[in-house]
Amino acid sequence: MSMKVMTVVGARPQFIKAAVVSREFNSDKDIDESIIHTGQHFDRNMSDTFFEELSIPQPSCNLGISGGSHAEMTGAMLVALEKAMQETLPDVVLLYGDTNSTLAAALAAAKLHLPIVHVEAGARTHSQTNPEEINRICTDHVAQLLLACTEANLENLVHEGLGNRSAFVGDPMYDAFLQNSPRAQVPVLTGTNGVSDFVFPDRFYYLTCHREENTNPEILGSLLDAMDAMDAPVIYPVHPRNRKGVLQALEERGTGNVLAVDPVGYLESLYLVKNAQQVITDSGGLQREAFFAGVKCTTLLDFEVWPETMVDNRNMLAAPNPKSILLAMDAPQRIDPEYKPFGDGRAAKRIVDGLKAAFE
Ligand code: UD1
Ligand code: UDP
Repeated sequence: MSMKVMTVVGARPQFIKAAVVSREFNSDKDIDESIIHTGQHFDRNMSDTFFEELSIPQPSCNLGISGGSHAEMTGAMLVALEKAMQETLPDVVLLYGDTNSTLAAALAAAKLHLPIVHVEAGARTHSQTNPEEINRICTDHVAQLLLACTEANLENLVHEGLGNRSAFVGDPMYDAFLQNSPRAQVPVLTGTNGVSDFVFPDRFYYLTCHREENTNPEILGSLLDAMDAMDAPVIYPVHPRNRKGVLQALEERGTGNVLAVDPVGYLESLYLVKNAQQVITDSGGLQREAFFAGVKCTTLLDFEVWPETMVDNRNMLAAPNPKSILLAMDAPQRIDPEYKPFGDGRAAKRIVDGLKAAFE
């Protein structure tokens, strides 16, 4: 009889990671995967687009839970996921990353004594106020199999006494990057304000910014000041969390150097990463993609999420103010082509092999 794996996803970066693993499952007759979508991300360009572009199997159900406070969202997901798990009775629950969807699924599964596999285990920012840090620590500590993207993440797990159920597999984001790079597409940009007559610039910078820590009007204003100092347009696909704030700021101050646009698809985002002069972001995924593409990155956070990328000036932290951002961007990077901390692009295969070895 085949093993029943329930994958729980809800947010944009999780669709990308799950896509490469689902592809492995599809060619494995011993595994029967069902996908539950919590509904955390729900706009077409934050969800359906990724399922279509990456040929992810349709979820068996979408719980339709999004927004509200952390407790409201996580609590509602916990109740609904418990029910879904009781109905399906999976052999294993497979989780990715550090979102509220991850935490809710981890708590629901743990209380039902269902084994959990956590992909992207062991990432640590050591910032207790970072909501994702709480999600990832709790998930790691109730999971039975912890699969780390980097050796340093594995070491974090060993330090927390979780080494005997942990392994380094590599980063499925790197698998996705390698598999999909040849399909990267020039984006068709639609302005956040509905305008769509952009001429796609030859030279540009790629900005994304969506962290809870970075979305107040003061920080946004300071960030836009810094972007106005760039020597080329800044393409800024605006995460829905920021939509209202960005529209208001650009209305008050004028658009300046910034092309604020709706979120783009994954293949379009890959084009932007690979062809940008530089990347400026607070996204964990985009920091890694800039690193994979050899494009200099400036990270708008006061803690390191992926220290592996922060060698030889390849990715530098900056406070969200023009002086700090420009200082980071001006420091030239050095690329050592032999340095590959995120594995060899075969993480998905190792995830499936590890899961089967542990639970079959
Ligand atoms: C979440 C994750 C974060 C991850 C990010 C990826 C948590 C705590 N945070 O943050 O780790 O980096 O996803 O993008 O889980 N919204 C829409 N349409 C959508 C999606 C969201 O309007 O398609 C709105 C929500 O209703 C909410 C706000 O955007 O008001 C923020 O969404 P939420 O899912 O709470 O957090 P993210 O910032 O997306
Ligand atoms: N991304 C995308 N469209 C966009 C912005 C980002 O497809 O408009 C991709 C990006 O290339 C990366 C992923 O989304 O693969 C990162 O997701 P996000 O920044 O939302 O979350 P994080 O990685 O910070 O958790």
